[in-house]
Amino acid sequence: MLTVNLVTLFPELFAAPLGTSILGRAQAVSLVRYRVVQLRDYTHDKHRTVDDYPYGGGAGMVLKPEPFFEAVEELRVGPPIVLLSARGKRFTHDDAVRYSVGRELTLLCGHYKDVDQRVVEGLGAEEVSIGDFVLSGGEPAALCVVDAVVRLLPGALGDHESAATDSHYEGLLAPPSYTRPPSYRGLEVPEVLLSGDHEQIAAWRAVQAERLTRERRPDLWAKYLDAQAQ
Ligand SMILES: C[S@@+](CC[C@H](N)C(=O)[O-])C[C@H]1O[C@@H](n2cnc3c(N)ncnc32)[C@H](O)[C@@H]1O
Repeated sequence: MLTVNLVTLFPELFAAPLGTSILGRAQAVSLVRYRVVQLRDYTHDKHRTVDDYPYGGGAGMVLKPEPFFEAVEELRVGPPIVLLSARGKRFTHDDAVRYSVGRELTLLCGHYKDVDQRVVEGLGAEEVSIGDFVLSGGEPAALCVVDAVVRLLPGALGDHESAATDSHYEGLLAPPSYTRPPSYRGLEVPEVLLSGDHEQIAAWRAVQAERLTRERRPDLWAKYLDAQAQ
């Protein structure tokens, strides 16, 4: 079973998402367990202070190192420890696979202006970003990571096929999908998908996947071609 630890100032943000749909079902059948802890529980002053002014001045407050260290120590977690961070390395499908095959994953959520950098240095945390934009807190980013990881656990999806044919699984974007009706407001489903010819359908999907990847994600396309050449 995978244990996912989440350290946050806002545990309430996780209740519904972790209890719903695939994430909730995966916990119900013991593929995963979630431990959500309140960062403030690891403070020792009357005001449960988690932040302070930045050394060197500047706007905003910085989350102090001590509560993160104490939370990680009390949870007795090992690697991977991940700090969600806009300056982190971009989270990818490969990371999701790597986290999904481990026994434990610990996600530290930042907030306010920043997190004291000693959290990364001292806890050996990976800094991970979910994209080139800035969120107000690490919680939505942590949920993205948890979702991407948990759906890869064997048995999490009713039909594993649906993960294996998703975008990124084989390095390409997924081809587009259609369902009934075959014609809607003048918009037609591609003829081949109605043909019942499984070989032709597979060929059409492969062409679409390659075309979309080439057009929309030249970076992924180059990587895919490299992998094919090896
Ligand atoms: C307002 S942001 C801090 C941004 C930071 N001052 C910077 O410029 O990199 C507050 C917190 O949200 C989270 N966060 C913001 N953007 C993120 C992203 N793209 N990916 C992952 N986490 C993010 C991090 O935990 C961060 O500590």
